[in-house]
Amino acid sequence: MGSVGAKEVPVLLSPEGLRVDGRRLDELRPLRIQAGPLHQADGSAFVEWGANKVMAAVYGPREVHPRHLQQNNKAVIQCKYNMAAFSVDERKRPGLDRRSQEISKVIAEAFESVVFAEEFPRTSIDIYIEVLQANAGTRCAGLVAASVALADAGIPMVDLLPAVAVGKVAGEIALDLKKEEDNFGEADLPMALVPQSGRLVLLQMEGHMTPEELSKALDLGVVGCKSIYEKMKGALRDRYTVEPSAAAEAA
Ligand code: CDP
Repeated sequence: MGSVGAKEVPVLLSPEGLRVDGRRLDELRPLRIQAGPLHQADGSAFVEWGANKVMAAVYGPREVHPRHLQQNNKAVIQCKYNMAAFSVDERKRPGLDRRSQEISKVIAEAFESVVFAEEFPRTSIDIYIEVLQANAGTRCAGLVAASVALADAGIPMVDLLPAVAVGKVAGEIALDLKKEEDNFGEADLPMALVPQSGRLVLLQMEGHMTPEELSKALDLGVVGCKSIYEKMKGALRDRYTVEPSAAAEAA
């Protein structure tokens, strides 16, 4: 640990170019995705990403609540992102705060770009994201979990939506920030992209970057998203692939 003024800050980048947890700048945290762990939901997914643990459940298309949100030409996509009181070091006040509302809104909007909502007029597609353990990048982990949960629910979409936060730590552009890097780094840039077209459907930034750094960060994020995309497809394959022996037994 180094010290800046009265505040103890960790050494974010070693002389060898390694980060607080030993990762290189272009390395993701370990990511494990399970599709379909919840039986009551129409679709679900559990994501463990570094120290983040996030559950997503999808219901629908179903009746719209509250009714006045109903749209005659398409489904409404509603998202509720919630951070459990025990998910962070200092107990988080339970319930909807402004941050959760903002994250819920940007996630719902990201999915509006990929879900074929017009196939289900006068219905609602409800996405619930519960963060059980948080260590930075939870909106991206939530998006990844929700995306796999939507696919698990059989909701037709253009594509899955991989997401990752890129940032700037110790003057360098780094992939997939963890908590210390998010807290003490210079910038945090969560993004989500449609892999087939390369279109960004979520992009936010806190902190400072030069245009050149921003461009480098976007490139790094795209590479990260592609590798996350493979894991998302893998999770769905694991859930829906029938072993040849099981198929023979069922026949
Ligand atoms: O989680 P994400 O990076 O998408 O969102 P953020 O608002 O940038 O929050 C970064 C991290 O700060 C979270 O992942 C939590 O680990 C932490 N946090 C917290 O400790 N208490 C809160 N009330 C909100 C966030």
